Amino acid sequence: MSWYINAVFYELYLRAFNDSDGDGHGDFTGLRQKLDYLQWLGVDCIWLLPIYPSPLRDDGYDISSFFGIYPTFGFLEDFRMTVQEIHRRDMRIIADLVVNHTSDQHPWFIEARSNKNSPMRDFYVWSDNNERYKDARIIFLDTEVSNWAYDDRTEEFYWHRFYSSQPDLNYDNPGVRQEMINIIKFWMDMGIDGFRVDAVPYLFEREGTSCENLPETHNYLKEMRRFVDLNYPNSVLLGEANQWPSDLRPYFGDSDEFHMCFHFPVMPRLYMALAKGDRTPVVDILAETPEIPDNAQWATFLRNHDELTLEMVTEEDRQFMWDYYASDQRYRLNLGIRRRLAPLMGNDRRKIELLNSLLFTLPGAPVLYYGDEIGMGDDITQPDRNGVRTPMQWSGEANGGFSSAPVDRLYAPAINDPEYGYRSVNVAAQQGDPDSLLHTIRNMIQTRKRLPVLARARLQWLEDLPTNLLCFWRRDDDQTVLALHNLGGEAFTYTLPEGERFRDALDPDEAVGKTVTLPAYSYRWLQQVMD
Ligand code: NOJ
Repeated sequence: MSWYINAVFYELYLRAFNDSDGDGHGDFTGLRQKLDYLQWLGVDCIWLLPIYPSPLRDDGYDISSFFGIYPTFGFLEDFRMTVQEIHRRDMRIIADLVVNHTSDQHPWFIEARSNKNSPMRDFYVWSDNNERYKDARIIFLDTEVSNWAYDDRTEEFYWHRFYSSQPDLNYDNPGVRQEMINIIKFWMDMGIDGFRVDAVPYLFEREGTSCENLPETHNYLKEMRRFVDLNYPNSVLLGEANQWPSDLRPYFGDSDEFHMCFHFPVMPRLYMALAKGDRTPVVDILAETPEIPDNAQWATFLRNHDELTLEMVTEEDRQFMWDYYASDQRYRLNLGIRRRLAPLMGNDRRKIELLNSLLFTLPGAPVLYYGDEIGMGDDITQPDRNGVRTPMQWSGEANGGFSSAPVDRLYAPAINDPEYGYRSVNVAAQQGDPDSLLHTIRNMIQTRKRLPVLARARLQWLEDLPTNLLCFWRRDDDQTVLALHNLGGEAFTYTLPEGERFRDALDPDEAVGKTVTLPAYSYRWLQQVMD
């Protein structure tokens, strides 16, 4: 089994994690100081958000040099040392690879817009009008009105699927395709274990199409995979394609495209199922999810550094989700909700655990978002998605122990309200309390790793139960787990199948009788005892 199939991933925003030199920004030295914590937690692989030089108009997803490190983060040597330190702890690291666009401050674009005959002109997509590719949707709906932006100097429009400060690269140009391979080589040679590949559906543009998921795009991604397989076996390419299951499936190809893809459609449905006290949305979307190749895996997640996207739900469900989870309009962003897990759950510990239990027991490799393991909150006063990217809360000390800088020098203030602020929610306090959320999540991680059946084995629903129960078997030749989840506000007593013995996988001291009572919003992981 390839390592990523049963790995637990941890998404980490370096700027927010740990500031070692008091400049108000997290850095590599700071991360190295916290690797013991991640190892203690049970993280197998760190996913590092962009760490490249950038004007930060999109928090680093707007890259101005692919071959460097953002100055406040450290030096390339720091990066290399960090990779070594991660490997020394038997963990792995993947980095974000932004393939679709650059910053408008990237030398390629500066050159390209300097004049129409520039040799770099064709690295980007230009047009003398803004009428082409009309069928492509706008993704950053709250900010952009068109996928074309006008360049005064050369009096043409350039194509951008995200912010206008992020011109799209032109993948019809073989030079661009080769440069991206060079970039992959550069970072893989530094020892990393793969990439989370950003915004992959949009590489090519073709008239009369949505300009998403085009065959040309798949062909190029396969080329990337070939290069990686040939030169860096045992690494992983994790694709970010926010698409419906049937459009996602081709990104795995025939084991010749991505090793992993995020399962975007299941994520909002976990929240929907809980809100409605009805398992149906989850059951239906998993029924619609096609089989993937044997050595491939879904990456599942509850929250990440973006808004909780509602792109992959119907209009009606989107409205429901907004009304339920973002009645305050300020929480709405584009087609989503800019909130963290704990506040989405109204800080109800039972519900936070319940969703995590689903994350760890449903098929896929779980990806945790930094800070959610301690139940961090969000900061609505921050613009865009910054409110879910606040400093990691390590302790009750100033700035949550994140930085010794004065508050006004921090890239963003640590959350400091009575409910979610660092004085009440922090790693130090929770590490010292065996009943804390942090310990509960850690136990889930450790247990999950002892139960590889949860990674890929087939799933069988307990269909006869009332709809507020989301219960299923996971079985392979070696292990059988019965995962029980009560999405409703009333307790339920479940009678276990006769003649079979179980033990509580999360709490081996807890006796399991003939029946199991599931209080409101609770869960149990029962492992069948094989004779
Ligand atoms: C997806 C990333 O997750 C998001 O943060 C970013 O803004 C866009 N891609 C554009 O790179």
